[in-house]
Amino acid sequence: MTRSIIVLDTTLRDGEQVPGAKMNVHQKIEFAQQLKRLNVDIIEAGFPASSAGDFESVREIARTVGDSVSITALARAVKSDIDAVYESIKPAQNPLIHIVLGTSNIHVEKKFNRSKDAVLQMGVDAVKYAKTLLPQVQYSTEDASRSDFEYLWTTIEAVVKAGATMINIPDTVGYAVPEEFGELIRRINERLKNLNDQVILSVHCHNDLGLATANTLAAVKNGAEKVECTINGLGERAGNTSLEEVVMGLKVRENYFNASTNIRTKELIKTSRLLTYLTGLDVQVNKAITGENAFAHSSGIHQDGLLKDKQVYEIMSPEEVGADSMELILTARSGRHAFRNAVEKLGFDAGEGEEFEALFAKFLQLADAKKEVYDHDVFYLVTHHRTYED
Ligand code: KIV
Ligand code: ZN
Repeated sequence: MTRSIIVLDTTLRDGEQVPGAKMNVHQKIEFAQQLKRLNVDIIEAGFPASSAGDFESVREIARTVGDSVSITALARAVKSDIDAVYESIKPAQNPLIHIVLGTSNIHVEKKFNRSKDAVLQMGVDAVKYAKTLLPQVQYSTEDASRSDFEYLWTTIEAVVKAGATMINIPDTVGYAVPEEFGELIRRINERLKNLNDQVILSVHCHNDLGLATANTLAAVKNGAEKVECTINGLGERAGNTSLEEVVMGLKVRENYFNASTNIRTKELIKTSRLLTYLTGLDVQVNKAITGENAFAHSSGIHQDGLLKDKQVYEIMSPEEVGADSMELILTARSGRHAFRNAVEKLGFDAGEGEEFEALFAKFLQLADAKKEVYDHDVFYLVTHHRTYED
């Protein structure tokens, strides 16, 4: 039977930590609304103890978006952080507290300068405290892939007994390789299922060696039930696991993984372009799934093969990820009719009378400045116009 994999998007927490990726509260809400359209299961909205602004953004996201999607936020294993998470996510229907604490020797000795037992106790106390506030608590064993396995397991066992409902295994510094990471997940999963088969096993990978997607897929193959990702792989250093790559990897190779997600894949390109627009951080042109060239075939041999049958050189169709293969490029001379068509093709109501004219005037300004206006520009234009003018 196909397993359903839970997708947590952490673009607004791990992704937003990147220099230059800062978004204001309106932009975060706009992005969270798009994550909801994409149908992610959980949005990690921020790190509320880090600043008053972050606290406010998490609370607004929980309030405005947290009706059908679960909302979480990050806390270190200290009461004040856990309180900040609780206070900010509590307006959501299904709030989840996320606690992180290191398990590798280097974290225990250098970061905390305490004994292993004392660090483990901090984790247990944090989970027990979080459970007095909410039923759903995720525990992340930071730097798990560089941790001593028996200490890692002792920690997991103790925090599960203290009430953790999700265990997240991070490859914090992108050190793992797929076979080894898959094996780590297999071993943890085997013990965890014996201890408490209701606890969800999750993974969170970083891309320092370009292996985040491969490690995440290896983990799914070996029993992981939840994946943590960001759009465009945005994240510290070389980034996090790219959501679009994992989701399409599972979709295209569903028979191999026996697993699927609830993601509406047709929303992937829009979500990627919206993030680029909001942060100003471009996606490399040859990036899998969302790069400008991801579906472009330029060699004569490939074009000839595609004309005979698309499947000759295509493992997924551009339409499946929302990349319209027949994109019409608009200019300032395209006129109202063509603009209305482009807006409606994206699924928006273009409106009538003054409402349409205001939108069209914005389009003309953009077309004058940019010369060529693509579908993704029209998408930002409409969503942005509606977010700020309403
Ligand atoms: O990379 C990491 O270890 C994290 C944890 C908070 C999950 O981001
Ligand atoms: Zn991370």
